[in-house]
Amino acid sequence: MTSTLTASLGLFSLILIYICYHAANDVRLTVSPQGCRMSWMSPSYLLQHEFNTSWTPLAHRYSLWLYREVGWDPNQVMGVPVLFIPGNAGSSHQVRSIASSASRQYFSSPFVISGDFTGRGIQSLDFFAVEFNEDLSAFHGPTLESQIEYSAAAIRYILSHYPPNTQIIVMGHSMGGIVGTALLPSDDISALITMSTPHTLPPARFDARVDEVYRRNAESLANDPTPVVSICGGATDMMIPSESCILPDPGDGNPGSAIYRRTVFTSALEGAWTGVGHREMVWCHQVRWRVARAALELGGAKSDVEMGVILDTWLSRDGRLFPSAARIDIPEATTYEALPEGMNLVLKKPAGSRTYLLPIPRTLETNATFVLFVSRGSVPPIAPQHSTNLQALPYFCVGRMTSPTIQQSSESVSCVPLEPSTLKLLPSPIPGKPFPVPDEGSDESDGVVLFEATVPRTPGDAEDAWIGVHVNADSEDGWVFGGFDETRTVQSNIGIFDVLAGGTKFLLQPTERSLVRRHITFPKLLSNVLFVYTLTPKSDRPTSSCTHSPALFPPLLVHKSHPAETHYYRLEHETSVALHTHASAPFIPPSRFSPSYSSELWIYSAGTGCEDVNEFTLNIDWWTTIGRIATRYPTTLISWGVGVVALLMFQAWRESGKGSMPSVQDSLTAFICRLLPKLLAASFVVALLPLSPNYYLGTQGEASLGFLAPVLLVTATGLVCASWWLISLLVWPLRLLTRFLPPKSRRYDDLSMPRSTIISLILISFLVFLVVPWQIAFMGCWLIHLHTCASSAHRKPYPGSVPSLQSTPVESLPLRERFDGREDDSQDTEPNEMEPNEEPEIQDVCRARSLVTITNALGATQVYYENTHLLLLMTWLLPLSMPVLAVWVRTLMTAGYTAPFNGDHNVFKVAPFLVLVEFTSRRKSALLSHQNAGSYLHWGYLIVACVSFFLGSREAYRVFDVASMYIGCALVVTISPVRFTRRIAT
Ligand SMILES: *[C@@H]1O[C@H](CO)[C@@H](O)[C@H](O)[C@H]1NC(C)=O
Ligand SMILES: *[C@@H]1O[C@H](CO)[C@@H](O)[C@H](O)[C@H]1NC(C)=O
Repeated sequence: MTSTLTASLGLFSLILIYICYHAANDVRLTVSPQGCRMSWMSPSYLLQHEFNTSWTPLAHRYSLWLYREVGWDPNQVMGVPVLFIPGNAGSSHQVRSIASSASRQYFSSPFVISGDFTGRGIQSLDFFAVEFNEDLSAFHGPTLESQIEYSAAAIRYILSHYPPNTQIIVMGHSMGGIVGTALLPSDDISALITMSTPHTLPPARFDARVDEVYRRNAESLANDPTPVVSICGGATDMMIPSESCILPDPGDGNPGSAIYRRTVFTSALEGAWTGVGHREMVWCHQVRWRVARAALELGGAKSDVEMGVILDTWLSRDGRLFPSAARIDIPEATTYEALPEGMNLVLKKPAGSRTYLLPIPRTLETNATFVLFVSRGSVPPIAPQHSTNLQALPYFCVGRMTSPTIQQSSESVSCVPLEPSTLKLLPSPIPGKPFPVPDEGSDESDGVVLFEATVPRTPGDAEDAWIGVHVNADSEDGWVFGGFDETRTVQSNIGIFDVLAGGTKFLLQPTERSLVRRHITFPKLLSNVLFVYTLTPKSDRPTSSCTHSPALFPPLLVHKSHPAETHYYRLEHETSVALHTHASAPFIPPSRFSPSYSSELWIYSAGTGCEDVNEFTLNIDWWTTIGRIATRYPTTLISWGVGVVALLMFQAWRESGKGSMPSVQDSLTAFICRLLPKLLAASFVVALLPLSPNYYLGTQGEASLGFLAPVLLVTATGLVCASWWLISLLVWPLRLLTRFLPPKSRRYDDLSMPRSTIISLILISFLVFLVVPWQIAFMGCWLIHLHTCASSAHRKPYPGSVPSLQSTPVESLPLRERFDGREDDSQDTEPNEMEPNEEPEIQDVCRARSLVTITNALGATQVYYENTHLLLLMTWLLPLSMPVLAVWVRTLMTAGYTAPFNGDHNVFKVAPFLVLVEFTSRRKSALLSHQNAGSYLHWGYLIVACVSFFLGSREAYRVFDVASMYIGCALVVTISPVRFTRRIAT
């Protein structure tokens, strides 16, 4: 009966985790399918032998390589140095895609410099890469520190081969970006480009020293003026939460400002327009092409401002300011053609050179915008990769037109270049195909250049004013569309609870004429990484009626939720799109650039009134939402599991204060029946408190996310139940085994330690201090304790032994009926833990023998119960310490046994467990129980639980620390006074 409760809860958790795993796996397929072309190269790597231990002692452990594209790059270095730093378990060979692309862009054929770069003072790039033997740097601060030290030395070495004052460009992938950021501030580094780097939140939060590196990096990012660009893969990246890839407050968005920080999601990166996975980031052709191009151009930059412009141009077009460099005057000999007022400029397959004048309507609103689309051509300097010779240049013109067309009018019309507010490449989804395009991805050449500018105020009535578009084309391809747009923003008051309540509809006012762009804002809709919405558009006149006159530019939905993050979707009747964002997220400190309520949609279209969308339905995409939540809270689940165990211990120790320690099974049942319902309510209430994002669930009291706390709590409890089965499963065969072994040496009931024990403890401590990391010692403690539990499970009471004072319950017999007063489990209590064939024996004993023996038998059971509780706690602490063990094994394997492995020799972290395990394996009576430990000691477990629940998600390492500290304190309190009094007594 009681076990069905724990069983069903455990099963529920396991099933839920299984579901979450699948949902999480589906996220990258449904939300943002990846479309990347493979990249090809002919790599060779030259080991830098001279970079030896006279530069850094770490030269034994790591190595430095120079990439050369076979047949394209000369063998000696000659250009601008670049250092590539791989990430967690990454390889130096990951440099090859970007390096190869840089060579093949710079040279149009081997040793012939491409026309794009000749005469501009731009040199080729020399790509160096550090090899970290695929170390697991994400889990381990000291490893990260070693990599930082080695990279800093590598930069010194590389620059020693170049003229003085040469600067290096640093590129980092994943944790390599953290290493790169940690190299700042440095006069040697001209710019830093990071790819899929978790800048603001360590993905593995089990090591305080990783947090230390992050703290230093945050300071550099806030103060150091070196330009930093972070490229993020978005929802497709399953290895890091992409919201942590967003750089903290990126200055004021002005390339002229002192600090240049930009984040760009690949969904907004021109030509890519797709999410990119974590590992794929280094080879995705669309990304590497732009990164290599940006690096090449950076090599020729003279100032920080110029660098900012280059990085903006090649990597992060969204939200940039424009250099005035691209101003071109209208050629003298041009034909002016004035369009009738109210007409849009529509040119299909334009040819020749002409300037079209669009009269600015006098009725136009002050904020009207001129919008220009150019397909297969350029609005200098922006052009798709393989554009034709079509060029469109927008101007603001004033003057007098005497006839609709004039040949030469320098005296009657004067034009100045129009300053853009937006100039970028938009994707142009192919009708009927999915977008973002999976597999091969989009072709940048399909992109359409978008130019937007605020229409200048017309000066007085004396003259006419126009927007002039000079079109120059010598191939009959592409199209140009221009028109005025008085965008009226549609504000939707839909809130998250409307959507949660089952989806909502909203209508766009039908308009008499087709609009170039529409703007919809959702000021009340939560835009958080944990919620994914489905938006289903409906249109009056579905596509079928438009087949005979397809739109020039079918509706394109642009979803913006953060200056760095833009997603594009094709809008089709009844085809839903998944709206998702990384603007606000758990554990990410809010900044003024990541508002949690600021989704906006833009709809661009040009051509006919066909396919106009006028109704949307908004729903929650539950499956994907579950998947997103699942990837954000595994650490929380582990530390909340520890919290649940700590509460179990608290409860059990309090029971033991009243007389007897319950078994783990009973503890679990009592916890689920009595404490859990109250905790669920409390956890929900706490989730609504506006706590700092570092605490609890990191949601800062967001009401719609409050439900997460109870769900996580139930799941954690279920996992604890499941882990107890696992332990029982482990103990069972061990128990049989220990039966056939000779019984252990005599158990001591005394609290003093034999000399041999003290010596072995000191020896182990020395080993930990000098050689093995404490995590190994903890693993050892766990194994010993497992064995202790297994061997004490069937221990019979010693017939002749004297009962100890400590194990004698204060109030004697009715122990077995008494645990929490339920009738049904008075019989269950023991058979669950004792072997069935022993039960009658014990009951025999109970009946036949004296009170002394009975208390003794009960004492042994007590010890067993206490030990298993401790085993459960230690088991839950394992996942908090094991990651470093993996790092250790990996480092030993790759770097040899002599590799310095600093840190992790803090004996004090593991000493309490060493002593505890030593005592429990020798003693026959309960150690930390009430009688020994004083009546207030169990409150310590409450502290452990609080730390686990409140701090565990963000700083999981604190959970182990506080648990170890508490055990230490409890041991000191238990042991010292008793020993002292005994000594005196003897
Ligand atoms: C490191 O390399 C340099 C140049 O080859 C050499 O002169 C030096 O002796 C080397 N140092 C060590 C410790 O091997
Ligand atoms: C129109 O322009 C004014 C001043 O430039 C600005 O304050 C206002 O917010 C703009 N209105 C809209 C709807 O963009």
